[in-house]
Amino acid sequence: MAIESTFIMVKPDGVARGLVGEVIARFERKGLTLEKIRKLDIDEDLARRHYEEHVEKPFFPELLDFITSGPVVAMEWSGESAISVCRDLMGATDPKKAAPGTIRGDLGLIVTHNLVHGSDGPESASRELEIFFG
Ligand code: RTP
Ligand code: MG
Repeated sequence: MAIESTFIMVKPDGVARGLVGEVIARFERKGLTLEKIRKLDIDEDLARRHYEEHVEKPFFPELLDFITSGPVVAMEWSGESAISVCRDLMGATDPKKAAPGTIRGDLGLIVTHNLVHGSDGPESASRELEIFFG
C-alpha cells in the first residue's frame, strides 16, 4: 500500500445541482486530502483528450454533449490507496446499480449524469492530472 494521487472531477450535473460541497465532504471525511482544485469549462478538444479511450464508443456523442454542457470542478486528491478508495466512494458507473452509501448510489439515477469522474488506475491518474493541472 502506498500514498497515491488521483484525479477527481465533479461533472456538469453535480456542479449545476450544487453538489460540489457534498462530494468534497465525502472524500474529506474518508481521510483523503484535497491538493488542488479548479473550476473550468471543458471544450470538445479537452473532452476528446480526457476520454480518449471512449472516443469510438457508441455513447461518446452523448458523453461529449454532456461533459461540455456546463462547468466542472477538477481536483487532485491524495492519500493511502487514493485511486481505488475514491472509486469505491463514487460507486458503480451506472447510478441505478451503484450501492447506497456511494456518491452515485445516493445522488444519481441516469448513467450519463453520474456526477463524478475518478481515475481508474495509476496510469490514468498521472495522465489526467497532467491534462488538468500540468
Ligand atoms: P468516469 O470515467 O467518468 O469516472 O466513469 P467510469 O470510469 O465509471 O465509467 P467509464 O466506463 O470510464 O465511462 C465513462 C463515462 O461515460 C458515460 N457512459 N455512458 N450510456 C452508456 O452506456 C454509458 N456508459 C458510460 C458515463 O458518464 C461514464 O461515467
Ligand atoms: Mg472511466
